[in-house]
Amino acid sequence: MSKVVRSVVTGVGGYLPEGVVTNDDLAKIVDTSDEWIRERTGIRQRRKASDDQAVSDLAVEAAKRALAAAGRTAEDVDLIIVATTTPDLTFPATATIVQRKLGAPVGIAFDVQAVCSGFVYALSTADGFVARGRAKCALVIGAECMTRLMDWTDRGTCVLFGDGAGAVVLEPQEGEGTTDDRGLLGFALRADGTKQDLLYVDGGVSTTRTTGYLRMQGNQVFRHAVVNISEAVTAAAADAGVEVSSVDWFIPHQANQRILEGVAKRLGIDENKVISTVAEHANTSAASIPLALDQGVQDGRIKPGQLLLLEAMGGGLTWGACVLRF
Ligand code: ACO
Repeated sequence: MSKVVRSVVTGVGGYLPEGVVTNDDLAKIVDTSDEWIRERTGIRQRRKASDDQAVSDLAVEAAKRALAAAGRTAEDVDLIIVATTTPDLTFPATATIVQRKLGAPVGIAFDVQAVCSGFVYALSTADGFVARGRAKCALVIGAECMTRLMDWTDRGTCVLFGDGAGAVVLEPQEGEGTTDDRGLLGFALRADGTKQDLLYVDGGVSTTRTTGYLRMQGNQVFRHAVVNISEAVTAAAADAGVEVSSVDWFIPHQANQRILEGVAKRLGIDENKVISTVAEHANTSAASIPLALDQGVQDGRIKPGQLLLLEAMGGGLTWGACVLRF
């Protein structure tokens, strides 16, 4: 095998806002119960950003922690990609606001909008810069204030989502061109715009000129999730040249504990290899994978050199998976 440049995760950071909203809190405003939410989703609580916190504030905190973990400073950053569906403003991109707040120098900064699949899309996009020598120190951030998109009279959606941010630092490192290399080894991205009606926000700049509210046919999305994600995971593993069975940690998008378990079972992944934060974080959309990754790193489960499988599915519909050696 010839030598190749790989995009290696050198630091991970997460940030959750302080405000905790329990299932019992929600049962006071919609016709639901702690029991229903826990049984159907696995969610026990979610975090809610304070009124004066914008999504860029969450992103900056996660980014600072990821940079510290990588032994880098904002001065080093030459690429920022923020995956978000809840930007501070319609423009500029949240990534440029994060750049300003971090004090990072002039470089490349833009947002990726793929809803809950945003982090998987953003990481794969960043690889196109880092592995081709176009960036030396990239920040890939998933950050969301999903609670701002909730219709608080719709019990079918408002109980499912939370706020948070997670970030990774991605740097180029030379590898041998084998699956033992550290770095992003393979990915598969998918979108099917014909399924928009299953999950969307009913407002926008060029249509209603409002922000709108999240609308979802949850049981339909659920049906697509397990099948679609399994196909993308298999394709990403083939792209990486690894067997799904050789993965050390499965880090799925945290939408619903039943989906996590369904996908793991279909792929033959041992439940002890699944990182789950859904009980504490709920669905933080693009932030959920880097937050789960951060949790696994912080508690010592995920170690350098291990093989990680990330996957997500969200509005679009979009979905995808990444395989990387940490
Ligand atoms: N409390 C009590 N009852 C409820 C609640 C609630 N919070 N929400 C819905 N119900 C009721 C419904 O009204 C329905 O009642 P009915 O039978 O009288 O009509 C009943 O529960 C069953 O509803 P379903 O929607 O069929 O319930 P299901 O078991 O499918 O669970 C859920 C719903 C949790 C939303 C599930 O379908 C799910 O997790 N779907 C996938 C979500 C997802 O993965 N989204 C993708 C990512 S999100 C993104 O991209 C932004």
